[in-house]
Amino acid sequence: MTDAGNTLRALIADEIARAGGAIPFRRYMELALYAPGVGYYTGPRGKIGRDGDFFTSLDVHPVFGRLLATQVIEMSRALPDGPFTVVEMGAGKGHLAHDVLRTVEAADPALFARLRYVIVDVSEDLIARQKKLLAAYGARIEWAADLGALSGVRGVFLSNELVDSLPHHQVVMTGDGLREVYVGEKDGRFREGWGPPSTPALAAYFDAIGITLPKGYRTEVNLAALDWMRAVGGALERGFVITIDYGYPADVYYQADRRRGTFLCFHEHKASENPYVRVGRQDMTAHVDFSSLARAGTRVGLEAVGLTDQAHFLVGLGITHAMEAVLACDGGDPRDSDEFRAMRRLMDPHGMGKAFKVLVQRKGVGHAPLAGMAMPAFHITDLLGVD
Ligand SMILES: C[S@@+](CC[C@H](N)C(=O)[O-])C[C@H]1O[C@@H](n2cnc3c(N)ncnc32)[C@H](O)[C@@H]1O
Repeated sequence: MTDAGNTLRALIADEIARAGGAIPFRRYMELALYAPGVGYYTGPRGKIGRDGDFFTSLDVHPVFGRLLATQVIEMSRALPDGPFTVVEMGAGKGHLAHDVLRTVEAADPALFARLRYVIVDVSEDLIARQKKLLAAYGARIEWAADLGALSGVRGVFLSNELVDSLPHHQVVMTGDGLREVYVGEKDGRFREGWGPPSTPALAAYFDAIGITLPKGYRTEVNLAALDWMRAVGGALERGFVITIDYGYPADVYYQADRRRGTFLCFHEHKASENPYVRVGRQDMTAHVDFSSLARAGTRVGLEAVGLTDQAHFLVGLGITHAMEAVLACDGGDPRDSDEFRAMRRLMDPHGMGKAFKVLVQRKGVGHAPLAGMAMPAFHITDLLGVD
């Protein structure tokens, strides 16, 4: 085990002891991912790409960032005057920022002249990489410590694969009602147990979406995602929020046969369900409940425009034209075109194209149609429910 791994385990064990023998899983996950200097996201280890633990759409092909940029450009038409700000939360290696800035510079110089790009991230190591990649953009790009540092934003809040890694509670439905998963420690090993919910917000969460879990069902509740949505809504004065992540509307997420939840860890491109090994060296994630996210947004003035899957979002933004163009350049046979196959992977109905969803919300910008939302894979009542 690494020194950082030992330090992290000792730090978690110490907090468990001080708490009287157990801490909520949510706190365990928070420490494993974010403990200063030694957590998965706050430590120096490489995380994203071939040498890391997982790939994201940004690693697959730059068309993803370019098409997102065209969506941002279309959104900017609703705010034609004054500074236009893009806030990217969880920017990884900085590729999306790079693709958006480069595309806007080439396609819409007038927008580029009033564009400010702000990144919010927790990883010092990734921030250093972002700064290196984006150095050419000088004062046009800034880094903010957290969302609390932003207010009165006119523009777009963007994220890709951020919300799934926010620390969540784990719950189990028992014959005695809803119980929460706690983490204890014995002889140097972390162990799980169940106890009463640490907050009434857990039962309230299921009441709000009108779902009663069947007995024996274990799943996750991401209250941090709702806090995050409230912070985004508070910081955005006028504009849009684009949230891309894997997930479902609540009724699909918590359907009766998904009895083990969606929690997974990733280490060197292998998935596991065990969060108590490789502590600080593996990512931990759960799918996103887009209904609860959208409903939290509604309460802070963010109107849900729609939820679609990544394939439909990218088709709406013109990916098929980009695919035709690379295929023509590469001789017309998909087997000879790595680029074509990479673009097709972004649309794969058995993978990224269907698993990833795109939620778009707006505030104070009218109702002009958006190309990315031209083909919503879900009706708005699937997302928000019918009250
Ligand atoms: C899975 S990576 C995705 C990176 C990038 N968006 C992409 O698609 O390649 C998650 C990113 O979010 C950042 N992150 C994780 N938790 C965060 C938090 N609570 N606040 C801000 N950034 C966070 C990580 O440092 C990392 O840059």
